[in-house]
Amino acid sequence: MCSKNMTSLLKIIKISKRLKRKESLVRLFSDKVPHDKKTFSSFLTDSFGRKHNYLRISLTERCNLRCGYCMPEEGVLLTKKDDLLTNEEMIRLARLFVFEGVNKIRLTGGEPLVRKDIVQICDQLSSLKGLKTLAITTNGLVAEQKLLYLKQAGLTNVNISLDTMIEKKFEFISRRKGLMKVFNAIEKAIELKFNSVKINCVVMKGLNDDELIEFVNFTQNKPVDVRFIEYMPFDGNKWAPVKFVPYGEMLKLIFQKFPDIVKLEDDPNDTAKTYKVPDFEGRFGFITSMSEHFCGTCNRLRLTADGNLKVCLFGPNEVSLRDLIRTGASDTDLLNVISIAIGSKKKQHAGMHTLANTKNRPMILVGG
Ligand SMILES: C[S@@+](CC[C@H](N)C(=O)[O-])C[C@H]1O[C@@H](n2cnc3c(N)ncnc32)[C@H](O)[C@@H]1O
Ligand code: SF4
Repeated sequence: MCSKNMTSLLKIIKISKRLKRKESLVRLFSDKVPHDKKTFSSFLTDSFGRKHNYLRISLTERCNLRCGYCMPEEGVLLTKKDDLLTNEEMIRLARLFVFEGVNKIRLTGGEPLVRKDIVQICDQLSSLKGLKTLAITTNGLVAEQKLLYLKQAGLTNVNISLDTMIEKKFEFISRRKGLMKVFNAIEKAIELKFNSVKINCVVMKGLNDDELIEFVNFTQNKPVDVRFIEYMPFDGNKWAPVKFVPYGEMLKLIFQKFPDIVKLEDDPNDTAKTYKVPDFEGRFGFITSMSEHFCGTCNRLRLTADGNLKVCLFGPNEVSLRDLIRTGASDTDLLNVISIAIGSKKKQHAGMHTLANTKNRPMILVGG
């Protein structure tokens, strides 16, 4: 952040410090109050009343796959090591968010399992008082051998990405081999009985939309949730309207094969619309960010690997918490800036055609 920006940020902190002085005093005593009795932090509540209790932390910009819808073909400029959040900084921020009411953290990236210290990170995060769910989203490539240790370190929920069941197609989409490893990871996650095992499948016209039935059949004897994700536009991912399959179309296709599917009730902050084939063990659902957004119930915040807070996946606005920490900001200073960023969150994101022409980070640098 340039010094001009930093000066105005510090001015904002001063003003909002005055406004929030009363609340800060209350916070001084709030660690005496049991977590479930605390009122939800106004720092994490936006101007539309949305309470942000879910933080997604990107642990790395690196990945062992190269999925075309996420990683631009020409690659991405990786942040210098010194400019990435250190573990201490990341844990400090996580602790602050959890103290204010975040009860769910998801680790993502890039590929979070390329981090050699991933077990240690889970161990530290899972011990934060008030955190109920510690989840991960992984491509599954090196998950099979790590999941046991991650579970022992407090990981509770696992999402594994899988866009196709065909080896050649897997190689085409991810520009690497490894489909069997992903299947093995899914089996391992089921065997270890995580609270949930979800399969993320990005659906693209002409590429894998012919496999929807295969994926629904995958739920027949497995306690998994398959989630069909609408293809979203990000910088460098070659999104185009002709490649987009809206959820209505997917549902119609599935309905032709399984006319007796039932719609299940979703939790208030769920991003998926969930269905089930009667008598199948697992479930399937749709993440309809593009055709039917769920901004009204959004409770998610994102921390990028380089320490920026993003209040909306599709919004280009970011604030560097790393820079604040490195200029000596106190927890209250940080909270005041976080509160301003959350306060500026828009009611809803733009439509996909506008997003396709709006500058944003490539997905791999955001943390999905
Ligand atoms: C960015 S990845 C990071 C975690 C991990 N590497 C993985 O692939 O699961 C997180 C999720 O975002 C999804 N994703 C990436 N780009 C996307 C896009 N353009 N549209 C929809 N989902 C996308 C991936 O399929 C994955 O499930
Ligand atoms: S979706 Fe995940 S696995 Fe694929 S390139 Fe992006 S970060 Fe890597």
